Amino acid sequence: MRRIAVLLTSGGDAPGMNAAIRAVTRTALDREIEVFGVRQGFAGLIAGHFVPLNARSVGGIIQHAGTMLGSTRCLDFKTEEGQSNALRQLARHNVDGLVVIGGNGTQSGSYALSRKGFPVIGIASTIDNDLCGTEITIGVDTALNVALEAIGRLKVTAASHQRAFLVEVMGRDCGYIALMTGIAGGAESIVIPEIPSDPEGVAQELRAAYERGKPHAIVVVAEGAKYNAEGLASYFKLNRERLGFDLRVTILGHVQRGGAPGIFDRLLGTRFGAAATESLATGEHGVLIGIQNGRISRTPLSEIAGKTKELDVSLFELARVLAK
Ligand code: F6P
Repeated sequence: MRRIAVLLTSGGDAPGMNAAIRAVTRTALDREIEVFGVRQGFAGLIAGHFVPLNARSVGGIIQHAGTMLGSTRCLDFKTEEGQSNALRQLARHNVDGLVVIGGNGTQSGSYALSRKGFPVIGIASTIDNDLCGTEITIGVDTALNVALEAIGRLKVTAASHQRAFLVEVMGRDCGYIALMTGIAGGAESIVIPEIPSDPEGVAQELRAAYERGKPHAIVVVAEGAKYNAEGLASYFKLNRERLGFDLRVTILGHVQRGGAPGIFDRLLGTRFGAAATESLATGEHGVLIGIQNGRISRTPLSEIAGKTKELDVSLFELARVLAK
């Protein structure tokens, strides 16, 4: 029997998504499953924007960040009407299964379709690493490396001028990127949403770094922290005289999403993609493909939808010690 799978990427793009698209397509074709891609995520699904994928159309993409299928954050898909229209399109094209590559919001969308009885398989992908059901998501490693390189560069100029620098990294409400790059980049202060902190505390940590004889002082702050770059910058500006030093601010923003996927994300995307096809072929659906204890895992979407993975804050204390 001819089987048809449809593949889409949704939410924030992440380096390694293309590796997953390539792997799903080629492993599915190998099993004689026909594959269509959907342009622009759930918005394209509602509009029926399907394109046939073959081995050649997914060639030359594994080394590129972004997603060859395009992505959106689709508000319509959150409505009953949007979901019904999507299901109508899938039925019209006689689709047997849908593979959805994306993060938290996206996989809640996957769960919505799955609850309505459609066979959906999620692939864990977001630079934020805040998705339950997997230890790491596609895109995290590359995004961390982009942020780390920026921190390293700032450290060089900070040391030349004995200056304090602040780097704001992404992560939405999760401090994972800030904590990991803060530790790996040797930051003097790390500010994340999960641990309360205030500008005076940050100033204290920076001053202490100079007192210990350090030539630089770096703060890595998560965009979702109560005092993010904007909050800290205005506080430091207002209190410049009393604090006795300036804070130069860099907001990395979307730069973190555009790094060419490193080998980790290419392999992770490839393994997740192949595992999704395996699930399509065996009829196992309603699950998120992730990785746990080094092995591919399949977690019911019902267990992960609408939840956020907790950050291991014990590393925050370690960062404090290491900053000395
Ligand atoms: O979820 C990935 C992410 O890059 C977050 O870190 C960030 O808060 C958000 O997406 C930005 O979204 P957008 O690209 O829609 O501005």
